[in-house]
Amino acid sequence: MDTNVQKRREKKSLRVKVISLGNAEVGKSCIIKRYCEKRFVPKYLATIGIDYGVTKVQVRDREIKVNIFDMAGHPFFYEVRNEFYKDSQGVILVYDVGLRESFDALDSWLAEMKQEMGSQANMESIVFVVCANKVDLTKRRVVDESEGRLWAESRGFHYFETSAQSGEGISEMFQAFFSSITDMCENGGKRPAPEVNVGFTKEQADTIRRIRNSKDSWDMLGVKPGATREEVNKAYRKLAVLLHPDKCVAPGSEDAFKAVVNARTSLLKNIK
Ligand code: GTP
Ligand code: MG
Repeated sequence: MDTNVQKRREKKSLRVKVISLGNAEVGKSCIIKRYCEKRFVPKYLATIGIDYGVTKVQVRDREIKVNIFDMAGHPFFYEVRNEFYKDSQGVILVYDVGLRESFDALDSWLAEMKQEMGSQANMESIVFVVCANKVDLTKRRVVDESEGRLWAESRGFHYFETSAQSGEGISEMFQAFFSSITDMCENGGKRPAPEVNVGFTKEQADTIRRIRNSKDSWDMLGVKPGATREEVNKAYRKLAVLLHPDKCVAPGSEDAFKAVVNARTSLLKNIK
């Protein structure tokens, strides 16, 4: 057989399904519109249930036909949404960097998805990309890059800072997303390990998150109020080894390390 014909046959076009998830009004539809139509609509037009579209993209020498299911984020549409989780190869998870609750909601979006996919749920066969959206609105930003990146990368997800308004990060995000989905399909449906080794452990990521959310210095060091100097120092040493900036490259580790040092200093001042 002519080798060119053979090659063309080998590189059949792929058909994939992707969905968008995230709270209402975070910008899911605008991100998709920016990519597919190269425009931005400032007026909020809530998605009613689901919007569906098809686009074709080229990844290396393969044509990919992408079916995009743009979900409505409003809880009201749960009954409509839940039909559409199954058989997705890619998920775009979106939050608004100016609204902390939209970032905190990412876990519940993953939980809803797992629940609706039931026994079919195999999260290892799905490529996830997290969009920290509306980065153009710098003054109202409350979730910083390190926090978002940590959440995403500690789960093996891609992370992009995006603005549907300015277009920042949008084509880079879709390029990485489609390229990973293609890699996964060519890899027998298993998500390939991220190209860059994230270089930190889940324990480090979880500890940084715990430190960020701690309510006081005792809580930060993970000791009971009224702990002794020895207990404080022991807890401090453990955290220092885990998070020292020379050893830990997880986003936010430097701030977490400083916070732990300060917590220890302030506790020791008040312990006899
Ligand atoms: P639902 O369909 O209700 O789930 O919302 P959605 O997540 O699809 O949000 P949508 O894309 O409709 O955008 C919501 C609002 O945010 C609109 O008014 C958009 O114009 C605005 N918006 C979206 N992305 C951006 C962005 O990157 N920057 C700014 N400044 N505004 C944005
Ligand atoms: Mg929408």
